[in-house]
Amino acid sequence: MWWLKAVVISASVCLVLGKRDFPPDFVFGAASAAYQVEGAWNVSDKSVSIWDYFAHTYPEKIVNNATGDIACDSYNKWKTDIELVSELGLHFYRFSISWTRLMPTGFPDYISEDGKRYYNNIIDTLLEKKIQPVVTMYHFDLPQSLQDLGGWTNPLVADWFANYARVVFSLFGDRVKTWLTLNEPISFCDIAYNVGTQAPGYISPGIGNYICNKNTMLAHAKAYRVYDKEFRSKQNGKVSLANQILWLEPDTDVDGEAAEKARQLMGGMYSHPIFSKQGGWPPVIEKIIAEKSKEEGLPYSRLPAFTKEEIELVKGTYDYMGFNFYTSRTVRDAKPGEKIGAWPFEGAPDIDIVIGVRPEWKQTDAWWLYITPEGIRKQLAWLKKEYGDIEILITENGCASSNADVDDEVRVQYYKEHLEQVLLAIKEDGVKVTGYTAWTLMDNYEWTDGYSIKFGLHHVDFENPNRTRTPRSSADYYASVVKSHSLDVNNKIIDEL
Ligand code: NOJ
Repeated sequence: MWWLKAVVISASVCLVLGKRDFPPDFVFGAASAAYQVEGAWNVSDKSVSIWDYFAHTYPEKIVNNATGDIACDSYNKWKTDIELVSELGLHFYRFSISWTRLMPTGFPDYISEDGKRYYNNIIDTLLEKKIQPVVTMYHFDLPQSLQDLGGWTNPLVADWFANYARVVFSLFGDRVKTWLTLNEPISFCDIAYNVGTQAPGYISPGIGNYICNKNTMLAHAKAYRVYDKEFRSKQNGKVSLANQILWLEPDTDVDGEAAEKARQLMGGMYSHPIFSKQGGWPPVIEKIIAEKSKEEGLPYSRLPAFTKEEIELVKGTYDYMGFNFYTSRTVRDAKPGEKIGAWPFEGAPDIDIVIGVRPEWKQTDAWWLYITPEGIRKQLAWLKKEYGDIEILITENGCASSNADVDDEVRVQYYKEHLEQVLLAIKEDGVKVTGYTAWTLMDNYEWTDGYSIKFGLHHVDFENPNRTRTPRSSADYYASVVKSHSLDVNNKIIDEL
């Protein structure tokens, strides 16, 4: 058919011109996190983390009372996981270290030999297969013993974390060159303390979340400074943190200011202190919370201030930016008496905005995840506008489903459309995106959704003691993108001619 030939010819012209190719040194990976995949929650000398405790103590808060006790059994099946990564042809694998597996007391007085061996095995085997390890030091699983001392609301947590980071750098930094200190403080500070649906499960909106906010910034910064002083010259790696940022757009033309406020609350709180030239909290947010606190009769702001020294300590503590993206929301100012009431600002007491979704945005099986591929491009452009021409690694992006199907067309489409927007951000908007990470390598423990929501490139059979992994169509699709280093994958149409 002539028209098919025309399509093919233009497709091949595209191929030759490489319009849909990724830059030559662009890297692809997939991610997981310790509590979500490892299981073995009480094996050997591992101690209890806040997620072990939360899942065991408040089963009613989790779909089907699920726990991560066994999860994907990656503690035993790590070799299989690496095989999966290798079959996808990925350049890197992002995984996290469980603090309680490596340093069971929470402090550097005791390092677990088993913990050390486990992560050394993963790192060495990845490297043998020419896959770079990208390591997150903290993905939601604080030692419960430190939680008993206040956890992320105790200012000493910054030093506890820096001491843990020093151990991690000293054990693994000879081989690990890309680090993430903290994953998504917005989840374990704001969502956790505003609504209690994440460990540790305490509700302290407008107080606990802000104390946690400040301590995470100091913890990240102190770990970064440890790397600078003690390891960088020998190890030559890169350190950042991973923030999940929704694209927040004005509901209508008059809501530009409300949307910008919301962006500063979501993206700015954990970025401005580190990535901006001025450092410190985003000024607009700092002002609103100070005013509200005053109206409430408080002699200080509920958002703890940074001292001048702290601003300097935190500012500039990055070698790149880690960015997790899933979805978008609309924003408008609240009418008097109206409540925000919607994720991700549920329970947040200070910014009077209303969050919504557009009717044309398709919802996935996860209640919070609407498919908005253009959001990733817009958010990347916003990050560049706010913080300058910094290197950005997309540290998570992926699609939820509740069914176990291996034929996951919706997920294939999600990846394709998001990758298209990433390419546009690079090629049209000049954003320095250097890599992309699919969330997630395989179905795993999706926090309070238990095993009911799946994000995996591989299906995992949680009924089977072997936790059998099976590649989905999205795994095939992703592998072909990685192989061709382009969105013009595997020349299918040409083959069919
Ligand atoms: C971000 C978190 O880092 C990850 O743990 C979670 O599973 C995904 N979002 C999907 O909700």
